[in-house]
Amino acid sequence: MRVVRFETIDSTNRYLLDEARRGAGEGLVAVAEEQTAGRGRRGRSWIAPAGASLLVSVLLRPELPAERTQLVTMASSLAMADAVAEEAGFEPELKWPNDLVVADCKLAGVLSEADVSADGEVRAVVVGIGLNVNWRGIPDELAGIATACNLVAGRDVDRELVLGRFLAGLAARRSSLEQVATEYAARLATLGRRVRVERPDGDLVGTAVGVGPAGELRVEAVDGEVVDVHAGDVVHLRDA
Ligand code: BTN
Repeated sequence: MRVVRFETIDSTNRYLLDEARRGAGEGLVAVAEEQTAGRGRRGRSWIAPAGASLLVSVLLRPELPAERTQLVTMASSLAMADAVAEEAGFEPELKWPNDLVVADCKLAGVLSEADVSADGEVRAVVVGIGLNVNWRGIPDELAGIATACNLVAGRDVDRELVLGRFLAGLAARRSSLEQVATEYAARLATLGRRVRVERPDGDLVGTAVGVGPAGELRVEAVDGEVVDVHAGDVVHLRDA
């Protein structure tokens, strides 16, 4: 992998998507100290204090149909969860679809964006992760919502070591992306939980019972119907 570093950039995902369209090869990695227009899921922005987070994107060119690119997100979430466990000494939970959390506070978010041709072929996938590493406190507006590695571990955590472990863990899963869904489901804290899924077409309350082949969350609603959820935000509810 080849790592390109930025002191400040608008978005490492935007950068790599542009590079992908110019023909850059698989394995290009972008890391930034600060982003001025960091992108989050569902059109949201991603804000992180300068120099305190790991803001990293990786360019992959997997041979996957567009509906299965979620496998790249899963592989990245698993690789980052392992990297945190190894370097920070605690195991974050995986929350569907793409969060690492500790006690329901967000530690990291993952955003995969694909370059897809007019006829539907996936030319490239850029997966970006923002991991809160050494934060000097939680801003008031994120209190009870976000956390950082140092706040959980009780000591500062080396971002470079986390980056190295993450890239190694992603590379190890790269050749067997098809198997990642099984590993992800086995480690997904959302499974078995009562959840509220905030979907574009309305909220759904039920129990998360499985993960489908494209990464969709299977939720058994209160009336017993099993609904496949492809997009939405999950809230883990207390058991009734
Ligand atoms: C989410 O909404 O949870 C996903 C957030 C993803 C943020 C990361 S930071 C590095 C990369 N560059 C971006 O612009 N976004 C991703």
